[in-house]
Amino acid sequence: MAEEHRPEREPGRAVAAPPSEKPTSALVVERIAAQDVPAVCALYKKVWEAETTGLPAPLVKSWQPTPLEFTSWMEGVTYFAARRDGRVVGVLGCALEDGSGHLVHLVVDPEFRRQKVATALLAAALDWAKRSNAPEVWADSLARFSAASALFRHLGFATCGLLHKHQWNEDVQLFEHLL
Ligand SMILES: CC(C)(COP(=O)(O)OP(=O)(O)OC[C@H]1O[C@@H](n2cnc3c(N)ncnc32)[C@H](O)[C@@H]1OP(=O)(O)O)[C@@H](O)C(=O)NCCC(=O)NCCS
Repeated sequence: MAEEHRPEREPGRAVAAPPSEKPTSALVVERIAAQDVPAVCALYKKVWEAETTGLPAPLVKSWQPTPLEFTSWMEGVTYFAARRDGRVVGVLGCALEDGSGHLVHLVVDPEFRRQKVATALLAAALDWAKRSNAPEVWADSLARFSAASALFRHLGFATCGLLHKHQWNEDVQLFEHLL
């Protein structure tokens, strides 16, 4: 488990070349390092401040960690950051729980959506979970998050449950992917 907490970066993973019509560099996904924490927290704040419509306030607040809180989140969870031109544009965590990989806290900067950022983050997390001998990964997402549901289904996850009024009175959808 020590490897999960290791702050140094693994070699970057360049994914698909950017679409020619977009003036963007290649996307790089790496494990998060300590110096990334402020940028990661700023991204969570940006994403969830833009998504507040109708969401319970305590839930929205709980997804915007301070740097100190995020450092605590990192205990036992391996986080990946996606970068374009050095800018953090997406984050995803993966925790090993009871031998399975649990995907947590996925966000992509609204300015960089539908550019396969989440796809690249999930590929890195699934690869890491597989190398950690997890037989499957699972994720939970508010049922109202249609983009997340579409993403998981698009990437071959199966829906495996629905928890009614589970999180601040919100239905939570469960997804799983065998490795
Ligand atoms: C859900 C989220 C992470 C998706 O990130 P993304 O980088 O835009 O996703 P990708 O570009 O990798 O999408 C891959 C595929 O997923 C599906 N998908 C993603 N977003 C979608 C949307 N808004 N509507 C429909 N399908 C969508 C599509 O099939 C897409 O492929 P396509 O663009 O070729 O059609 C992003 O919308 C987000 O951060 N949302 C707010 C936070 C959130 O809901 N987090 C998840 C909590 S579990």
